[in-house]
Formats: sequence, C-alpha cells, structure tokens
Amino acid sequence: MVTTNKEELLICLQDLCNLFNVGEDIKIEHREIDNIDKITNEFTFASSDVTHNYSWTYDIDKSLSELRKKSLRKRKVANELYQVLSKELNTTLAWGSLTGVRPTKLARDLIEYGEMKEHLVAEILERDYFVSKDKAELVASILKNQKCIIRNDNLIDIYVNIPICPTRCVYCSFISSELERVKNKVDDYIDAVIKEINSVKDIIKNKAYIVRTIYIGGGTPSVLNEKQLDRLLSEINFPVSEFTVECGRADTITDEKLDILKKHNVTRISINPQTFCEATLKRIGRKQKNSEVLDAYSKALVRDFQVNMDFIAGLPGEKLGIFKRTIRTALELYPNNITIHTLSVKKGAELKNNEQKLEDRDVFKMVDYAEKTLIQNGYKPYYLYRQKNQLSDLENVGYFRDNSICMFNIDSMEETNTIIGIGANAISKRVYNLEHKIEREANVKFIEEYIARIDELIERKKQFYK
Ligand SMILES: C[S@@+](CC[C@H](N)C(=O)[O-])C[C@H]1O[C@@H](n2cnc3c(N)ncnc32)[C@H](O)[C@@H]1O
Ligand code: SF4
Repeated sequence: MVTTNKEELLICLQDLCNLFNVGEDIKIEHREIDNIDKITNEFTFASSDVTHNYSWTYDIDKSLSELRKKSLRKRKVANELYQVLSKELNTTLAWGSLTGVRPTKLARDLIEYGEMKEHLVAEILERDYFVSKDKAELVASILKNQKCIIRNDNLIDIYVNIPICPTRCVYCSFISSELERVKNKVDDYIDAVIKEINSVKDIIKNKAYIVRTIYIGGGTPSVLNEKQLDRLLSEINFPVSEFTVECGRADTITDEKLDILKKHNVTRISINPQTFCEATLKRIGRKQKNSEVLDAYSKALVRDFQVNMDFIAGLPGEKLGIFKRTIRTALELYPNNITIHTLSVKKGAELKNNEQKLEDRDVFKMVDYAEKTLIQNGYKPYYLYRQKNQLSDLENVGYFRDNSICMFNIDSMEETNTIIGIGANAISKRVYNLEHKIEREANVKFIEEYIARIDELIERKKQFYK
C-alpha cells in the first residue's frame, strides 16, 4: 500500500532549504510503503543549486506510536538533507538540521524516550543534529534550569489574550489592533472575554483542574482603562502563585492601573523597552520614552512586582555598540527576567526584509554578547524558542535571576501542560502526558468576530475539554 501523507514533512524540508537560501526550484518527492512490520520511506531531492539528485530510503518500525514515527521520519530525512546542502553550499547553520520552533522540547523528548542521556544532550545535538557547540550547550543548560516542570494532566495554565495596542510598531507581525481603531468595541470585547472566563470556570470544576499560572498577554493588556482592567481582573479569581500581566508599553502604565493589578493578586508584569536607544524607538514607530520606562519600572518595584523586560537584537539601524549599551542599562536596572528576542521580519509587519540586510551581520554578535553578559551577571537561560525569518536564523531566549522563573513561559514553550486560551486568537492546548498526545484549538482571530461568535466559541471549548 502506498500512502502520501507528507505535508508536515515537506514543510520541514522546505524550511531547511529556505534557511540555506536554496533557490525556488526545489523538488522533493516522498513515497511511503506500508510493509508487514515496517514502513519504508523513499525520498528524492533535486534543485539547481545542488549538483546531484539525491535519494534516501528508510525503514521505520511500525509498532511505534504515530507521533514517534512521524518525528523519526522527519528527523532522519532532515539530517540527510542538511548534510547534502551543507556540503554542496559549503556552509553550516547555527541550529544544524533542526527547523522547529522548540529545540529544547525536542531534546526533552529524546531524553524521555530513552534515546539520549541528559548529560549527553550537548554532545548528541552537535554530533547527530549538526547544532553548533554554543547552541547545543545553551539547550543543555536550559534543560537543567527547567527542573520545575511537573507533568500532570490536571495541572493547567490559563492564557487571556488582549490583542489591542496603543499604536503599532513597524516590526510587529502579531495580530493586534490599534486602540484608536477599536476603542468603541473594547467594552464589548471585555464582556465577551468575561463570558468565556465564566464558561472556563465550569470546565475547570468539571475536570477537577488545578490552575497553576495565569498569563494575560497580547497585544498590550495595560492599554485597557482602569475600569476595564478592574472588571476583567475581578473575574479571574483563581488562587495562583504566578500571575503575569503584559504591560509592555510603558506609556500605558499608571499608578492606578498598577494598584488594580496588585489588588487582584498579579505577581509579575512585563515592561518592555526593546531598546534604550530613543532614535531606534522613533524609527520602529514605538512611541515610548526611556524616562517612561524608568518611571514605570520604579512604580512596579515600589509595589513589589516581579518584572520582565523584553529586548530585540537586530532592530533597524542598530549596530553592536548601541545594543551593548542597551544590555548594560538593563543590567543596571536588574529586572527579575530579561528576554532577548532576535528580530524576525515577517509578512504581516510593515518592516520588510530588504530594509534589514545591514543589521544581519551584527546580530550574531549581539545575541552572543547578551548571553555571555547576562550569565556573567547572575542570569540563567530558562526557555527558548525560534520563529520563522529570524535574522541569522537565531532565537529568543528568556533569562531569570535568583528563583524568579516564569513557569507559564516554560509550560507554553515545552508543551508539558494543558493551557486554556481565552480571547480572540487565543490557542488552547490539551496535553495528554501518558499518551504523548497534544490537541490544539484556536479561537477566531479578530475581536469583532470574537464578539459576534462568542456563544459558538464557548460551545466549541466545552466540547474540546469534554
Ligand atoms: C507579543 S509581543 C507583546 C509585548 C508588548 N505588546 C510590547 O510590545 O511590549 C512580545 C514580544 O515579542 C517581541 N517581538 C514582537 N515582534 C517581534 C519581531 N518581529 N521580532 C522579534 N521579536 C518581536 C517583542 O520583544 C515583544 O515585547
Ligand atoms: S510589539 Fe507589542 S506594542 Fe508593538 S504592535 Fe506588537 S504587540 Fe503591539
């Protein structure tokens, strides 16, 4: 019997070709032959950028779970293709043959399936997946810092999405509306979100779920006015020890809003400078002053919030020196968490790829400088993820100091726990740890449609968590 279920696999191979900048004439053919005790996979690969046609054949044990078979097949052929392209084009990639969003999750899976010993993580990623020494060691140290993971199907996280921002930053490709455009719909949106929260309370009760963390993200949830914030937070009354609200844009933070967050037991907020260079802020359309960031930060410290700060390496017009200054300033402020993103230039953003070429050369050094300097100053990396189109194929890394890890970030990136997503464009995940299975369901993307279809979405969610 011949089967041709290959979409996900071909996307992975195409991604690898894109990372090598191989031309658009790639031909990848795949055939699966289902035998008695094994599945034989045959591949052929051809492109004008490589001088030969290649073909590989693999057998995969049929007794493995579907998920395992899929993953093995993908890894085997990605490794072969990586070796061909690397040799023919005489170049290597920082993440080797790994194309996925979550390299740390892949390493954890290998350990849990008994295919890799934890103390050999760096060595095996380097040897078998061609990951650079630096990145392989980064993965190994992140796994060590994720010991707080508890795999339990009843332990869940809640995510609430507020996809509204004061204004739009040019690099951003997240779905989020400018406040000015949707200001007449915000109250209706909060009403719909509250309706969904209340239906989630029933699900939690029926399933005997224990809520471990809450994360309100976006967008910029702190763009809501005091009354809206208070109304929303009054409904999210699960007793948790970690409760984060994104207040990324310092220009949205007021004493009164922080008092409201405190009143509702929020423990952690994000105040995101992205850079401390005001000329860059102007260039990226981020209407924010350093004085506002400092002011918001001191207001947060007075109220004893844990604070995360996001930065982006490779912002338009920034050279290494400016980025280094930003990191040094961040260290002087010494927030509990620092997240270093590498600029990703995506379709949905105003900023386009060809405007970005110059920065590409420096970005590798920026990310390396941030990692070394933060570690020297007492921070440790605790989660990592990759996005498409990141400069130099780099990644985003979250760092913490002392014991201030954000558990939600780990759970959502490592996909170890169920997450109930509430609000427009929120994604819910149901994790079945024993079966090694994850199911996902997304709410509709835009707030107008979310408001209009809230009852139907609530019904769908009930079925999803049945
Ligand atoms: C979903 S955004 C929400 C944060 C909040 N709205 C803000 O801008 O401060 C989370 C983070 O993603 C990062 N980010 C957004 N767009 C990015 C891009 N194109 N490339 C790299 N990082 C990006 C920024 O550091 C941002 O703080
Ligand atoms: S980076 Fe943050 S503030 Fe800027 S548009 Fe994106 S989500 Fe909104």
